[in-house]
Amino acid sequence: MLDVELEAAPSMVPWRGSQRWALTYNGTTPGPTLRVRPGDRLRVTLRNRLDSPTNLHVHGLHVSPSANSDNVFVMINPGEEHTYDYLIPADHPSGTFWYHPHHHGTVAEQVAAGMAGVIIIEDELDTLPLIANATERVMLLSDPRIGTTSQVLQWSMMGMMQGRFGDGVLVNAVPQPALTVPTGTMERWRILNASASRYYPLRLDGARWWQISSDGGRLASPVNATGLVLAPGERAEVLVAVDQATTVALTAAAWQTTTGMGGMGGASNQPSGATETILTVIGTGPDTTTPTVGGALNNVDSLADAHVDGTRDFTFAMGGMMGGGMGGMAFTINGRSFDPERIDIEAALGTVEDWTVTNTTPMAHPFHLHVWPFQIMETSDRRTPITGWKDVVDVPAGGWVRLRVAFRDFAGRTLYHCHILDHEDLGMMGIINVT
Ligand code: C2O
Ligand code: CU
Ligand code: CU
Repeated sequence: MLDVELEAAPSMVPWRGSQRWALTYNGTTPGPTLRVRPGDRLRVTLRNRLDSPTNLHVHGLHVSPSANSDNVFVMINPGEEHTYDYLIPADHPSGTFWYHPHHHGTVAEQVAAGMAGVIIIEDELDTLPLIANATERVMLLSDPRIGTTSQVLQWSMMGMMQGRFGDGVLVNAVPQPALTVPTGTMERWRILNASASRYYPLRLDGARWWQISSDGGRLASPVNATGLVLAPGERAEVLVAVDQATTVALTAAAWQTTTGMGGMGGASNQPSGATETILTVIGTGPDTTTPTVGGALNNVDSLADAHVDGTRDFTFAMGGMMGGGMGGMAFTINGRSFDPERIDIEAALGTVEDWTVTNTTPMAHPFHLHVWPFQIMETSDRRTPITGWKDVVDVPAGGWVRLRVAFRDFAGRTLYHCHILDHEDLGMMGIINVT
């Protein structure tokens, strides 16, 4: 059992040689990394020393959404505390998960100000020599919106429409860190996109890299690539080999998914068109050739041939004006904005469903479902779906994604939503009840 206390509070944190004000867990951003094993019990007592309500969500964990488990309907007011108690199933996949606040209406400002941390689940797969001999690094990518006062939390409606961005990309709160890597060794990076809105189309030119995990655990076999895209909330684990004594950069290119569909000129998922350096890797030592990575990695229980009990359609839309003189835009799924009193869909425990998520807007939206991971069957942009578990999937502008979800193990009420957190706070979210 892992028993931890987290205090949510404003703190001054190091920032490019000086200090800035952030919202933190235990005084740091990111918060502490929590490591557990399948079958473990994780208890977290969260104390709220902020001046707004908060709570805790364990993103990607396949645990109960009820009672004191991953119950996002719990509200912890300023000055209050709550103890979460998560029973991690004995057959839970190992992988990289995370925790962040989920109180509707304050999620974007709290996450963007620094509140996020990594949860690692380890099992026998982590002892495979290929993985165990590699140097592990946890990389939480963020672009926090922090400054010298809480005023930085104020954000315009136009800004929320696009999703808030910070003024620079950080790795574990450090701008452009440099890693020194002996040639001939392997690195293992657990990368999490904890940004409120930013997509990271990552590339590592000049080194070899294999993806070994998606959001919800190890892939069936390593996938050789030169990069991958991480939408907000997504994770990937990669093995990286640096064969030569050279310096290579991990970069995030511009991400433009605007289709030119009318009405929303300028909506995109990137604050600028510039390619940013995320970190540099400095290879040291004699040139070598590290072994090729391949073979079977994991027995992924594929849903491709599962019996499908039903289908559903979800449509992301932005449009119309909200009432109340806000002058804002409505963010909807199937024509409705979030209502905490309404159950949007009912599903039966033990069934398998195919969901088609369609995006009618000129910007990309990452679709996320709590508790039950899914597999991607098909996408409008013909990405080759990898064989692995996902809990966030990018739905391209004007496009669609078809995913398959198995409602296993847990009944209860929880959420699905867009993981651009301003969109979620503005209502692009619904409630699912599994019974
Ligand atoms: Cu990462 Cu509903 O959240
Ligand atoms: Cu989640
Ligand atoms: Cu969105």
